[in-house]
Amino acid sequence: MIFNQWYVILESREVGKKKPIKVRRLSQNLTLWRESNGKLNCMSDRCCHRGASLSGGKIVDNNIECPFHGFQFGGDGKVKLIPANGKNAVIPESQHVHSYLVYENYGLVWIWYGDKSQVTEKPFFFEDLADMSYSTFIDPWNSHYSRCIENQLDVVHLPFVHKTTIGAGNKTLVNGPVVVREGELITFYVDNILDDGKTTPLKPDEIPDYEKLFHLQFHYPNIWQNFITDKMRIFAAFVPVDEENTLIYLRNYQSFLRVPVLKEIVNYLMKLSNIVILRQDKRIVLTQIPKKTEVKMDERLIMGDKPIIEYRKHRQELMTSPQPSETCHTCGKGEC
Ligand code: FES
Ligand SMILES: [Fe+2]
Repeated sequence: MIFNQWYVILESREVGKKKPIKVRRLSQNLTLWRESNGKLNCMSDRCCHRGASLSGGKIVDNNIECPFHGFQFGGDGKVKLIPANGKNAVIPESQHVHSYLVYENYGLVWIWYGDKSQVTEKPFFFEDLADMSYSTFIDPWNSHYSRCIENQLDVVHLPFVHKTTIGAGNKTLVNGPVVVREGELITFYVDNILDDGKTTPLKPDEIPDYEKLFHLQFHYPNIWQNFITDKMRIFAAFVPVDEENTLIYLRNYQSFLRVPVLKEIVNYLMKLSNIVILRQDKRIVLTQIPKKTEVKMDERLIMGDKPIIEYRKHRQELMTSPQPSETCHTCGKGEC
């Protein structure tokens, strides 16, 4: 996992107001719950007293109460009440669980996986999606998130995996693709053509006016969009569950229809079509071994794989930035 990043972990609508929920994300068991004003909290789902799952508890006075012995925790992860010690008892600093910084917008929830002192103000999002309507499909994949992301950066597979859908037309010859990385945003431009048996593919720097080509974008660590038109996009968040599992949050966005009923119908039909396409991918990606990719691994990549090569390379660069130590960033002792 790349450290010091905002990760999309789920959708806002998954966390109601009444009860905490339990999720597994980034190889951690987490609980998420809301205070009465809607403020969302995310913390480790393991009580610091004797290890019970906090998500089985309830929300009391804007704290979460452990179901075992009633310890109450604030959204900052600190214990606010130990009933057995009385309301007047002084609570030591060591009584806390790890809490995460949370950002919620666009119907999505991000958590900061990293040092709190290094946090960036807010996560990146494809801002122009904010005014568009969407519907979501969530699909669990038994694969490392790197494979799921690379599948959406793969322009070579289209005529084979998606022969009956977006890859129809047998455009097997891959010009470029042109890959532009600006910071943590990768944009890649697709120019697949029919193979007449005489043409060799153009190198990326031989493609004129590439900005006019169809393009897709990925932003580290885990969001992507397929820029179909100004008014129609597909968005995905690749949410790491653990080293072998990923949840793909796939959204189709559109703004060409605003009439409520028609909008719902079109969003629903777009969702169905995206499910078909995603299932075509899933059938293959789940067979890939190893489940996780690296810069140096036993694969023979080709020019058409340039977006994947760039993804792996920069991911590796980000991975070499400070990584979590064995100790906790809150207590400094590894107790939570
Ligand atoms: S295990 Fe949570 S209060 Fe005891
Ligand atoms: Fe695909």
